Amino acid sequence: MILKEHAVRDYRNIEAASFRPGPQLTVICGKNGQGKTNLLESIWLLSGAKSFRGGKDAQLVRRGLPFAVVESRALSDGGEEKAYRLVIGGEGCAEAGVRPGRSAQLDGVDLGRATNLAGNFYAVVFAPTHLSLVKGSPEGRRRFVDAALCQLYPGYIAVYRRYIRALAQKNALLRDARRFEGLEELLDTFDAALAEAGGEMIRRRRDYLESLFAIASETYDSLSAGSENCSFFYEPSAADGGDLLQRIRAARPADLRAGCCTVGPHREDVGIRIGGEDARAFGSQGQQRSAALSLKLAEARQIALVTGSEPVMLLDDVLSELDGARREFLLGRIEGRQVLLTSCDAAAFHDTPGAIWEMEGGRLRQVQ
Ligand SMILES: Nc1ncnc2c1ncn2[C@@H]1O[C@H](COP(=O)(O)OP(=O)(O)OP(=O)(O)O)[C@@H](O)[C@H]1O
Ligand SMILES: [Mg+2]
Repeated sequence: MILKEHAVRDYRNIEAASFRPGPQLTVICGKNGQGKTNLLESIWLLSGAKSFRGGKDAQLVRRGLPFAVVESRALSDGGEEKAYRLVIGGEGCAEAGVRPGRSAQLDGVDLGRATNLAGNFYAVVFAPTHLSLVKGSPEGRRRFVDAALCQLYPGYIAVYRRYIRALAQKNALLRDARRFEGLEELLDTFDAALAEAGGEMIRRRRDYLESLFAIASETYDSLSAGSENCSFFYEPSAADGGDLLQRIRAARPADLRAGCCTVGPHREDVGIRIGGEDARAFGSQGQQRSAALSLKLAEARQIALVTGSEPVMLLDDVLSELDGARREFLLGRIEGRQVLLTSCDAAAFHDTPGAIWEMEGGRLRQVQ
């Protein structure tokens, strides 16, 4: 995958910027708070996913303006070039004739919601916030897995949404259980829906993670030069849909007491062990960083394996956090892919063959 041309308008602090990244490395440098991450974020949106920074879509629009526009051209590894256009409606967008949130066009055809872009532009983003993959709560790890699956398998998002909808309905019921007549039958209906969609989520998560984890442990091995071992494992809430239904039913008294649904894919986690110990509780800063990096590199490899397209690598401010050996390892591993990275330190890249752009106050200019 090669991003050929990228332009944004009224996107966060960027009034207007456009550039053509090189086929390999492009560095976006600049001081703090100038818009480097914003630019990378706008590229990430071409994948159809939400911002990796979290927050609402409306926050992506330049303050005080009704909408933002992102326009790009990208070439797939199959040699197919596509034109992307995203329009993001913010406050007051209706008066400007723009829908709220992210809408997309592909080669001039309206796709409706930007999530429908999934399966066209493949990218992997690695930002300092991804350290929370190891250090943070199970929710962040579930989000990582679900986002990867949404990108790889366009059908996953529908299953995921079915599950989340049934879960919200069941939780609303459980919160106020005494008020409902025929409570047991209603709960039966939601349990069946949860087991159907949940069983499918477990199946997809298991298939994906089995192969992702094998690649990630291997990557960690090379990263640490074999000095320590890192293992990742998935803890599914049930073996399959039928098993999940039984477990959900068995948990009903507990659900009624807790006032929420206590069993299912929304409670699952991924375990990470380094040298046999829980990485979240005992891993050093560097070990946690290496584990997160291994997962991200494995994600990229997995995309290439499944889709036949090398993803564009978006590295936000991560090199500054790595020591020399790991930096070299990372840059070596991403050869053969287009890489866009941000850094506060342009000097560190003067002897690299890539292009260097500077971001200052939302304005972009080429310096090398
Ligand atoms: N919707 C918005 N409208 C206008 N400005 C915004 C909006 N959202 C964010 N900003 C501004 O964008 C600025 C640049 O943010 P960005 O995170 O891209 O900086 P950066 O160059 O990556 O900095 P750092 O090196 O510190 O990571 C911030 O100062 C922020 O206030
Ligand atoms: Mg930044």
